[in-house]
Amino acid sequence: MCGIVGYLGKRDALPVLMQGLKQLEYRGYDSSGIGIIYRKKIKVIKEKGKLVNLERKLSDNLSAKIGVAHTRWATHGGVTTENAHPHSGPEEKVIVVHNGIIDNYSRLKENLGKEGNSFLSETDSEVVAHLTEKYLDSGPEIAVSKALSQLKGTYGLLFLFRDHPDLIIAARNGSPLVIGIGKEEMFVASDAMAFAGYTQHAVFINDGEMVILSQNDYRIVNQQNLVIERDVEELEIERSNHSKNEFQHYLLKEIFEQPESVFRAIGRGGRLLPDFGTALLSGLNLEKRDFFDIKKIHIIAMGTAMYAGELGKFIMENLTRIPVEVSDASELCGINPIVDKNTLFFAVSQSGETRDTLAAVQEIQQKGGRVLGIVNTVGSTLARMTDGGVYIHAGSEISVASTKAFTNQVTILTLLALMIGRTRDISLSRGREIVSQLMSLPEKMEEILQRAEDLNVMAEFLKDYKSVLFLGRGINYPVAKEAALKLKEVSYIHAEAYSSGSLKHGPLALISEDMPSVFICTRGDSQEKIISHIQEVRARNGKVFVISNFDDDNLRDLADELFLVPQSDELLSPLLTIIPCQLLSYYTALKLGRDIDQPRNLAKSVTVD
Ligand code: AGP
Repeated sequence: MCGIVGYLGKRDALPVLMQGLKQLEYRGYDSSGIGIIYRKKIKVIKEKGKLVNLERKLSDNLSAKIGVAHTRWATHGGVTTENAHPHSGPEEKVIVVHNGIIDNYSRLKENLGKEGNSFLSETDSEVVAHLTEKYLDSGPEIAVSKALSQLKGTYGLLFLFRDHPDLIIAARNGSPLVIGIGKEEMFVASDAMAFAGYTQHAVFINDGEMVILSQNDYRIVNQQNLVIERDVEELEIERSNHSKNEFQHYLLKEIFEQPESVFRAIGRGGRLLPDFGTALLSGLNLEKRDFFDIKKIHIIAMGTAMYAGELGKFIMENLTRIPVEVSDASELCGINPIVDKNTLFFAVSQSGETRDTLAAVQEIQQKGGRVLGIVNTVGSTLARMTDGGVYIHAGSEISVASTKAFTNQVTILTLLALMIGRTRDISLSRGREIVSQLMSLPEKMEEILQRAEDLNVMAEFLKDYKSVLFLGRGINYPVAKEAALKLKEVSYIHAEAYSSGSLKHGPLALISEDMPSVFICTRGDSQEKIISHIQEVRARNGKVFVISNFDDDNLRDLADELFLVPQSDELLSPLLTIIPCQLLSYYTALKLGRDIDQPRNLAKSVTVD
């Protein structure tokens, strides 16, 4: 789960590679490194920790026209400078950066050890450099092919050779790889974002392919050594906006961006058709009449995207009356998913690079299923591999904890529900109601954000607990799950979500003055029930914080703290109630002095199994 980038061309390679790494840091931030050819030798600079540590180590008088770089999320071997990439062969004739996992590395390492090689790191990747160097007498291309033929596992690999200062070789199996073609310069990376701002011309590499790059040319070959011709694609990728503006953290900035990003999700109104009470999403590659054939919808995703999917289930079942299943993508492949022609699959992902989601999509497509993507990152692997889909237009999300992508995913799932629902079930007037509620969301979100700092009071309480329960019923239950994930992720406080109805079936035993509960309680059929669940917690000395959209004396009396959001249609209430939950996590983490934008052990995108 790492980011790799390579450059060769007319520019100074170091700033280009550093820029690439900044764009790829979402893939891991345990360590980073750069390898260049400098004065006819390979020079490697690497450092553990954030990219800024590497940046400090780079001296100004270094310059090169070719180099490879890596940002790491540790899998094999601890977080040390030795384990940082690039890794070098024994005689430093070749260096390698690797994204993926070499499953058979121990056996290869053992064999190389018997031949006299000794290793400097605990990584699986170092063996690739050693193997390649072993065969280097046959020339770089053959050496790489021979090394690759012995590898089992997943890789996106870049090779740099001391004695070939105009050559980078790249190879792919199971980890993404894309070439960027510039004028008298070439880029290669795990993600086109790495060369955003330099070139928009890209060629995507497939599994089993190797690319031989020089400053003015590239050649793709497959395992049979046949040359592959592939079209150059024009990508509309913008560099991530790395400015925090007036905000202390990206997380807070992104929470505050939600009114604007939800407005973009509804196409600034253009994706809504108020007169017809429906939505219009192009890119689905479906005709309206295809909607009649849908007997089931199946949403697959991970983490926050999966909780967005759970809300999608609630909203879609309500508006379309089509049964919806939501699956944790990492579980799906293992259970041999049922795929049939009347099931429409949606894969939801911010990054479009989540390995588990991609693997599940591959399995479903392999069985003949139709999968549509709900994706934020333009040109990502998921966006390219699905049979159609919708961009959520949240803009670049840098904080590891996902916020604005979540609200945009839920918004898009609502538009889809409306579009399908209007052909099958709901009336024009109900459709118009939903459209007008969607239009009013940004303003309501703004209203909440103006009172953001009020959440500091709840955060001041929460910061001193070891564990917190988040409770909700019906549509509020997935909100509770997402809220619990957010708190865990950024504050490192243990948090668990339950449906409030399930409290008496076990979790109530946890309630005491040491275990606070945050209830998400909105107006609707179950509001009385939730109030009685709150009473049960209070009766057992549990502290109760409530996020609600109705002001009720009873609720005010029961809650230690109450935060109100504006009223809305029940189906859209999660898009408002989640905002105080996100802010609560942020302020709690802030008080605890956590590394809010890059929490320990995590990466923005999980690109390994
Ligand atoms: C959210 O805060 C998490 N960082 C994580 O659960 C994330 O949503 C999950 O890994 C899925 O990522 P994706 O949307 O990029 O596929």
